[in-house]
Amino acid sequence: MATTLKKLFSIGLFFLVMNRLSAQKQNPPGADVYMNYCSACHGKNLEGGQAPSLLTSKWKQGETKKAIIQTIKKGVANTSMMAWENMLTEKQIEAVADYMLLLKKKKPASTSKG
Ligand code: HEC
Repeated sequence: MATTLKKLFSIGLFFLVMNRLSAQKQNPPGADVYMNYCSACHGKNLEGGQAPSLLTSKWKQGETKKAIIQTIKKGVANTSMMAWENMLTEKQIEAVADYMLLLKKKKPASTSKG
């Protein structure tokens, strides 16, 4: 009986520690949304792919958070950039806008060729 309790206790402790560890490694808000819905076209780090790189060129639709949120909501007419306002919540859109700005800020020197 005592050993069973001990076992249960250490299993509980194990999960508590794992929980702590994974909480520390948690991605910034918006990262999940970005990876799931946007990275296929925009690249994992905004380097582009199906969409133009947002690291090396000026953002055509504007680079303020407000402008980015607007673009995400409404999309860009006549391009594959669709409107996301019915797909994502207001919170997700704001978070993913923040995340794009974060990626832009920490633009890795190695991938920028001019
Ligand atoms: C199917 C491909 C595709 C997906 C998926 C996609 N985009 Fe785009 N996105 C584009 C293209 C192409 C453009 C460039 C449009 C243009 O020519 O101005 C663009 C442009 C943008 C811009 C404006 C860039 C600028 O130059 O001002 C933002 C912001 C943006 N996308 C955010 C997102 C976010 C956030 C997501 C995910 C929720 C997303 N996109 C998903 C294809 C995509």
